[in-house]
Amino acid sequence: MTDTGPWWREAVTYEVYLRSFVDADGDGLGDLAGARSRLPYLADLGVDAVWLTPFYPSPDHDAGYDVSDHREVDPRLGSLAEVDGLIDDAHRLGLRVVVDLVLNHVSSAHPWFVAARAAGPGSPERDRFHVRPGRGVAGELPPNGWPSIFGGSAWAPFGDGEWYLHLFDTEQPDLRHEHPEVAADAVATLRFWLDRGVDGVRFDAAGSLTKDPTYPELPAGWRPGDPAPYSDREDVHEIYRRWARQLAAYPGDRLGVAETWGGPEVIEPYLRPDELGQAFAMDPLYWPLRPEPWRAGVDALLAATARHDRLPAWVYGSHDVSRAVQRWGRDGARAMVLLMLALPGAVYLYAGDELGLPEVALADDEIRDPVFRRSGGTDRGRDGARVPLPWTTQPVPYGFGPDGSTPWLPQPAGWGDFAVARQVDDPASTLALTRAAVSLRGTHWRGRPAQVSWLEAPADCLAFRRGTDGPSCLVNLGDTPIDVRPYGDRVLLASAPVDGLMLPGRSTAWLC
Ligand code: NOJ
Repeated sequence: MTDTGPWWREAVTYEVYLRSFVDADGDGLGDLAGARSRLPYLADLGVDAVWLTPFYPSPDHDAGYDVSDHREVDPRLGSLAEVDGLIDDAHRLGLRVVVDLVLNHVSSAHPWFVAARAAGPGSPERDRFHVRPGRGVAGELPPNGWPSIFGGSAWAPFGDGEWYLHLFDTEQPDLRHEHPEVAADAVATLRFWLDRGVDGVRFDAAGSLTKDPTYPELPAGWRPGDPAPYSDREDVHEIYRRWARQLAAYPGDRLGVAETWGGPEVIEPYLRPDELGQAFAMDPLYWPLRPEPWRAGVDALLAATARHDRLPAWVYGSHDVSRAVQRWGRDGARAMVLLMLALPGAVYLYAGDELGLPEVALADDEIRDPVFRRSGGTDRGRDGARVPLPWTTQPVPYGFGPDGSTPWLPQPAGWGDFAVARQVDDPASTLALTRAAVSLRGTHWRGRPAQVSWLEAPADCLAFRRGTDGPSCLVNLGDTPIDVRPYGDRVLLASAPVDGLMLPGRSTAWLC
C-alpha cells in the first residue's frame, strides 16, 4: 500500500467560506484574521488543505465573486500581509492553502468595465468583454436568448444600443479570454498568488471561459445542465493548458482544480496530462440515495479520471448547494461523509457541515444572494447554507464575531446547539465523527488501490473494498438494520451505533 503522487491526489480539503467563518474585527463579515485564528481547529480536524473563498476587493453583488481587483485584498477582509501570515501559519501547521480565482468575469466596478461603459459602442475598451449590438429596431432587445445562470437574460444593455454578456449577475460582466490583455492579465494574477506561496488554485466557473463567437441561440427544448455554447467547449482547454504550464513552473506540485458542473464526460478533459490535477464532481450531490446510481456513478467517474491517471474530487458540500443535512437528512449526511472519505480520490468538505449545520430559512429581506432577486423569488438562492458558523453557545453571534457584533446573515435561535464548543468533546457529535473519519481515512483508505471492488450486499446497501483486500465500507441506505459480520470482524468507525453487530438504516460502517 503506497501513497504516491502529489499531495492533493487524495487530500481532504476544507472550504473556508470566508465571509461566514470567523469575524475578527466585528464588522459582521468573516475575515482573514478570523480564519487565521482558527487554523489550529482545521489542523486538529485533520484536513490537508484549506480552500479560501474570494477575499479580493468586491462590491459584494455576489458575495465576493464579483472581483474589482484580482491582485489585492478587500480591506474589510484583511490585507496582503494578512494573506502572507495566513499562508505561513497554515504551512507551519502542515496545512496547504488553495485560493479561489474568479477569472471568468470581473465586477462591474473593475476599471476595465468602468472604461468599457464610458468608452461607447465599437470602442477597443469593450473588446475585453462579450459585447454585441442589441436586436430590434433600435437595439432594445438582447442579442440572443441566452439565460443567466442566476435567472433572467444573460445580457444587459449599455443603454447605447450595445449589450454585454453576464452569465451570472449583471454586475459580473464576462471577460473575453481571446483578448490578449485579458489572457495576459489572468496569467499575471495566477503568478501573483503562486508567488505568494499558495499551494493550489480553484478556477471558478471553469467551463465558462470561452463562448461560441457566433453566439448561436440555444436549441429548442434546451434545459439548464444541457450542453451550451458557453460551457465546457473544447477551446476552453487551451486556457487550462496555458495555466497548467504556469502551475508546473512552480515547485511543490501546485494544484489546479476546476469548478466543473457535470458528469464524467465534462470532467475528464480537464484532467488530461497537460491540464489540471482535479475537477469537481458535483453530480454525486444529486445522485438518488440508492445503491445502483451510486455504484454506476462511482464506476463511471473512476473510469473517466483513471484514463489520465487522476482520481475524482468528491464534493461533499459547498457554498453553492444546500447543506448536507438538508440534502441527505442528519443520519444520511453522517453516512455520506464516511462513504465519500472511503472512496478513491480527494474530498472537499464545506465549513459547517462537520457540525451538521442545517439549512437556515431566511426571510426575503435577509437574503443577499442575487439568485433570489434574479429568479423573481422563485429560487431562494444559496444563503441558507452560508449562515455564519456557531463557535460557542453564547448568544448571537455565537463566537463568530466579538460580542455585540451582528453577522452579515442572521443566525437562527438555537444555533448554539451546533456550536463547536458543544461538540468538540462529545464523542457522539458530528464534529467528532468527521475528525475520526478524516484521521482513520489516512491510516486505512488513503493510498489504497484506486479500484473499487463492489461486494455483494443486501438490497438498499452498498459495500466495497479498494482493491482486493483491506478494509470494507458498508453503507446501509435503507431502513432495516443489517448484519455487519460478512464485511469484517471489527468496526473501525460507524456513523451510528452498531448494536449487536447490526448497522442501522441510513448509516455507514468501516470494517476490517
Ligand atoms: C461559482 C461560485 O462558487 C459561486 O458562488 C459564484 O456565484 C459563481 N461561480 C460566479 O462566480
